[in-house]
Order: sequence, then C-alpha cells, then structure tokens
Amino acid sequence: MKNRKQKIRKEHDVSGTDKNGTPKKYEVIHNLSCKKEKEKDENTGDHIRKIRHQTSNIKHQTSDIRHQTSDIKHQASKIRHQTSNIKQYMSEPDTFDKLRYRKSGKKLRSRFSSCLKKRFLNIFSKDMAIDLGTANTLVYVRNEGILINEPSVVAMRTDRGMDPKVLAVGTEAKKMLGKAPENIAAIRPMRDGVIADFEITGLMLRHFIRKARKGMSLFKPRIVIAVPSGITPVEKRAVKEAAEQAGARNVFLVEECMAAAVGAELPITRPVCNMVVDIGGGTTEVAVISLSGIVTSRTIRIAGDKMDEAIIRYIKKKYNFIIGEATAERIKMSIGNASPDTENFESTEVKGRNLMSGVPKVITIDAGEIYEAIFQHMQEIMETVRIVLEQAPPELAGDIVDSGIVLTGGVALLKNLDKFVGAETGLPIKIADNPLTTVVLGTGKMLGDPELLRQVMISE
Ligand SMILES: Nc1ncnc2c1ncn2[C@@H]1O[C@H](COP(=O)(O)OP(=O)(O)OP(=O)(O)O)[C@@H](O)[C@H]1O
Ligand SMILES: [Mg+2]
Repeated sequence: MKNRKQKIRKEHDVSGTDKNGTPKKYEVIHNLSCKKEKEKDENTGDHIRKIRHQTSNIKHQTSDIRHQTSDIKHQASKIRHQTSNIKQYMSEPDTFDKLRYRKSGKKLRSRFSSCLKKRFLNIFSKDMAIDLGTANTLVYVRNEGILINEPSVVAMRTDRGMDPKVLAVGTEAKKMLGKAPENIAAIRPMRDGVIADFEITGLMLRHFIRKARKGMSLFKPRIVIAVPSGITPVEKRAVKEAAEQAGARNVFLVEECMAAAVGAELPITRPVCNMVVDIGGGTTEVAVISLSGIVTSRTIRIAGDKMDEAIIRYIKKKYNFIIGEATAERIKMSIGNASPDTENFESTEVKGRNLMSGVPKVITIDAGEIYEAIFQHMQEIMETVRIVLEQAPPELAGDIVDSGIVLTGGVALLKNLDKFVGAETGLPIKIADNPLTTVVLGTGKMLGDPELLRQVMISE
C-alpha cells in the first residue's frame, strides 16, 4: 500500500523554478482520496453539460414554435386580406382592379416577366408540327406554314467495307427507288404504318427537322408529331428520341386520326359524332371522335401501298408484264377510279418488262382493270368502316346520319372514292379540303392551342 502511494506521488511530480529563477523540484502530493474527488467532479461536470444541452434544445424548440405561430398568423392575415379583397370586389369591381394592380405590382411584374419569357421563347423558337407518314413526311413551322413535304425515303450508299453513308433524303431519294445500283439502297424506313427501321427513321426525321430549322432559330423548338394510332411504346420512344436529338425542346405525340379530324375542322371538342377515315400510304385509320377523345377506332394496314402492290400483281398475272412500285403508284393516281364510268374507261400507257421475252415493252391499261385490281382492298377498307360504325354508341351513330364521314389521306384523292363510300354506307361523304396536308395542319393547330394539345396528346 505504501509503495503504491509513493508511486502515485512520483507520477504527480511537477518541475518548476523558485522566485529567484533557480530550477527547483516540487512534489505535489495527490493521494487516492484526491483522485476519487476528481472523478466525482468530472461526473458532476458531465451532468451539468447534459443539462445545458437539454436546455439549449428546449430553447430551439421554443423558437421553432414561435416561428410557426408567426407563420400561421401571417397566413391568417393573408386570408383576411383576400376575404376583404373579395368583399371589395363584390361591392366595387371597377375600382378594385386598379387598387389590386397597384398593390400587387411586384407580384404581377414577376408573373409578367415569366410569362414574357415563355412568350419570348415561343416567338423566337421555330415550333413545329410533323406528320410522320409512311409515304410522306410533312413539317409545318408556326407562323411560316408547311416548309417540308417530301416522301419518307432515304438513299444510302452501302459500299463494301465502308460505313453506310446518306446520299439523299426525301424527293431526291424517292427518284432512286427501284433504279439504284447495288451499292445504293433507297429505303422506305416506315412500312405499313410502322417503323420498320428505327435508325433510318430517326436519321430522316433529324434531317427534315434541321432543314426546317434552317435560318434564324435562336431557341430549341417544341415539336408535335402525328404518329399512326397503335404505335408501340418502343416506336414512341424512338420517334421522341429522334426529335430530341434533332434539337427539340419538348416533344409531344398525337394520334394521326385525331390530327386529321382537327385539320378537317371538325368540332371534335363538342359532344357530337365526328367520323374520320384517313387512308394514307401504309394504314387506314377509321375513328369516331367526340369531346376531344376517340370513342371508337380501328386501324388496318391496307392503304395506298397495298393498292400499288395489287396493281403490280394484277398486271403481272394478266399480261405477264413486270412494272415497278413507282409506276404502279403513277397508274393509280392517273387512272385509278373507285367508281369508273363503265361506258368510257380512261386508259394509259405503261412501260415495263415482258416476263416471257424479258424485253422492255409498252402496254395500255384502262381504269376498269385498275378498279378490278384494287377492288378487294377497297372492300376491306369498307369492312373496317362498317365495324367502327357498329361499335359507335347509338346516340353518336344517330349523329352520323347528318354529319356523315370525312375522308382524308392521299387515297381520298382517288377518283370517285366519295361516291363509292357513299354508296356502300348510305351516309353523306365529304373529302377534306387538302387530304394530303390535313394531318399536318391539324397538328399545327394543336401547337397553337395548348389546352387542346394537353387533351389529345398520347401519354407515355
Ligand atoms: N391522286 C391520288 N389518287 C390516288 N392515290 C393517291 C393520290 N395522291 C396520293 N395518293 C396516295 O396516297 C398515299 C399517300 O398518302 P399520305 O401522304 O396521306 O400517306 P402517309 O400519311 O404518308 O401514310 P400513313 O398515314 O399511312 O402513314 C400514297 O399511297 C399515294 O399513292
Ligand atoms: Mg398519314
């Protein structure tokens, strides 16, 4: 025990100097009881520190409560103020407006500046509407009109051992369809109303958007794109991404038949029946629209392209004669007739190759033969119209008797198609003013009407 005490004493030896500055060794004696007291002191200190901490916490909470109370008071005063404003407005609506504008000038200024910013962006960005069609792509630019109206075709150079290179897009590329050598491929990336080649569709879309954006375009545009109904989520994403890569600020997708109805100036927001039949290159879309929504619709992959193929097959079978797609389309446009005059058929000369001799030749074809060739497809389209009519609710179906059907899309230009559809359905038929541009003009209208766009755009 004695040894231990000595050891503790040694541990607490402190060296120092006396008042003359001579170094002197003092021994500070701390015995065991002293150490215990020290420990006690430390415990008390901890306790005090804890209490101090808790006190500061309580202070913080009190100040928080004080803040919240003042917030509530502030809100209550705001509500009181608004109530008094409403009362004032009810009694003197004229003077109230002036007063209010003066009082909340600051708020108004900030709201005005954000509105101005939006308008500024809208004025100086070239907002666009696009009809991404199987046969043709059209781009409408706000305040400028339709700037692009070209075939949906891309020509690529595909030399062996080299990366494919774009040669032409649109009209120039279409001229190469069926005429290009082996190392040039003229491709239609959209077939039957669906995107057959994502990469080339994206490339084509980017090309058209950039072409339309040429000139002064300070800000990125908003783009509304009309796509075939029934487009898959993957296709939707591909179209959106392509537009974004081409520099779009926002991309909205809308259904083609809805855009067609808006373009044909049908009262789609009213509770009446609006029936549209859009016959394009790849798809025929039949829809009944009311109150800005599609009530019933059907899409088939039978339209202009299938009619061209039918003409090629018919001529090959009847005359052993081969013609290309472009020639078939030209025949359909020139003498195609949905209700030909049986007494006096129109005719045209067709250039192609005889299958037996392999020699190029010219033959004459008449409208009766073309009618025969495409009749089957016209019947299939009529069958779809009948199905949609059957599916329409009785109240709306009743409306159709008066409002009739509007035909849009390129094939609506087929001679006497209105007569044919009218005879098949017994309903009044109207052809849209310019069937090839109806969809893009309707999409363009949506650009300028945010509320309508919000109602009809395809959600993710
Ligand atoms: N005068 C005409 N007579 C007959 N058919 C025509 C006429 N003019 C254009 N077409 C056809 O219209 C089709 C193109 O129409 P449109 O541009 O509306 O199609 P799209 O919108 O590109 O295709 P989709 O809507 O199916 O994706 C083509 O098949 C074309 O041959
Ligand atoms: Mg179309």
